[in-house]
Amino acid sequence: MAAKIAFILGAGPNIGQHVAKKFAANGYKVAVSSRSGVTTSDDYLGVKADFTDPLTVARAFKQVRDTWGDPSVVVYNASALHLAPTDDAFSIPVAAFQEDLNVNAASLYAAIQETVQGWKNLKASSKTFIFTGNLLNVAGAMPAMLTLGVGKAAAAHLIDGAVKSYGSEGYKFYYADERNPNGSPVGTSPDAKAHSEIYFQLAEDPEQRPWDYTFVKFKGFTKF
Ligand SMILES: NC(=O)c1ccc[n+]([C@@H]2O[C@H](COP(=O)([O-])OP(=O)(O)OC[C@H]3O[C@@H](n4cnc5c(N)ncnc54)[C@H](OP(=O)(O)O)[C@@H]3O)[C@@H](O)[C@H]2O)c1
Repeated sequence: MAAKIAFILGAGPNIGQHVAKKFAANGYKVAVSSRSGVTTSDDYLGVKADFTDPLTVARAFKQVRDTWGDPSVVVYNASALHLAPTDDAFSIPVAAFQEDLNVNAASLYAAIQETVQGWKNLKASSKTFIFTGNLLNVAGAMPAMLTLGVGKAAAAHLIDGAVKSYGSEGYKFYYADERNPNGSPVGTSPDAKAHSEIYFQLAEDPEQRPWDYTFVKFKGFTKF
């Protein structure tokens, strides 16, 4: 049987590393990608890539493919934000807007493209793509975080589009969004362990659950 491989794009000390640890503990080979390419375990494959350039995504996938093969689980966790003054959201230079949109959306597009190409010939029971979102796809604009919000809204659209396009193949796609029990955003403190538990559950379940997967720590999926 082919090795189970998970690839986490945008893996830092919080969500990324906890998700890596969870999948590694459950028999997956784990590749982690970031601008530093540093890994917290010699067992992981470190992939150095900067998703401000969407063309780096294909190279990152090639490194994983050439080393181990195509991943059956892909997590896109990178994000970018140039904070804007609340009363002057459009003062961010166009180049900065574009850079953030590349990380938040264009490189996600490229990652989904690479993933589904790899899945065509991959013998694996559960093929799962998870994007780490937040509530900005449904909250309306928060001017200070315009570049992040535009990206999350685009990302939700891409995930929905992927479900509609490839769901019949049994491929699963998620926009995962941790919330507080009252539905408010978890802000700057997402619970990395809760993410790792939920992401593993989504990967293990052969069925597609709601793609816009809002969840609460200790509770799981919660529709708001
Ligand atoms: N549900 C919510 O309300 C909520 C709240 C907070 C955060 N979030 C989401 O959670 C995710 C981040 O979580 P986290 O900070 O806990 O994760 P993390 O795994 O600790 O960090 C993410 C890593 O992504 C890497 N990264 C950033 N920009 C990159 C780029 N241009 N190219 C390649 N890698 C890049 C960074 O590593 P390098 O610096 O080495 O590149 C960073 O350490 C984001 O998608 C964010 O929007 C959601």
